[in-house]
Amino acid sequence: MAKYNLKINGKTRAVDIDPSTPMLWVLRDTLNMPGTKFGCGMAQCGACTVHLDGTAVRSCSLPVSAVGKAAITTIEGLSENGTHPVQKAWLEHDVAQCGYCQTGQIMTAAALLKDNPKPTDEDIDNAMSGNICRCGTYLRIKEAIKSIK
Ligand code: FES
Ligand code: FES
Repeated sequence: MAKYNLKINGKTRAVDIDPSTPMLWVLRDTLNMPGTKFGCGMAQCGACTVHLDGTAVRSCSLPVSAVGKAAITTIEGLSENGTHPVQKAWLEHDVAQCGYCQTGQIMTAAALLKDNPKPTDEDIDNAMSGNICRCGTYLRIKEAIKSIK
């Protein structure tokens, strides 16, 4: 076990945990933040996406020991009341179906738009290609991203 002071959604959260524990489980099980989802556990589906210093990363494959002083943002911290432009566009375009993958989709889209506010179709495809949706919401995701000014 080891002690870590993690910067999550603007607050410092102290945990005492095995260094190899993936951040996904630190968030969900240790810190009771279930917004970030478990899909494959192997960095293949994107359901567990969070931001690490603003970059979209797979929390299932990020050991807590590798986080250091980097700031983590989860879906709970993306906005106060679901008012991030990506969240608003998701609602306007009725993107979610079952919703399971959508945390990861939103976090990936938010990271894309921060770095590239006017992405081309190809930029969107490249950025979003690692986020799998079993319900096939891909077209609505693309429309929602393109609608954000
Ligand atoms: S659960 Fe992390 S990428 Fe699938
Ligand atoms: S909305 Fe169901 S998996 Fe994407």
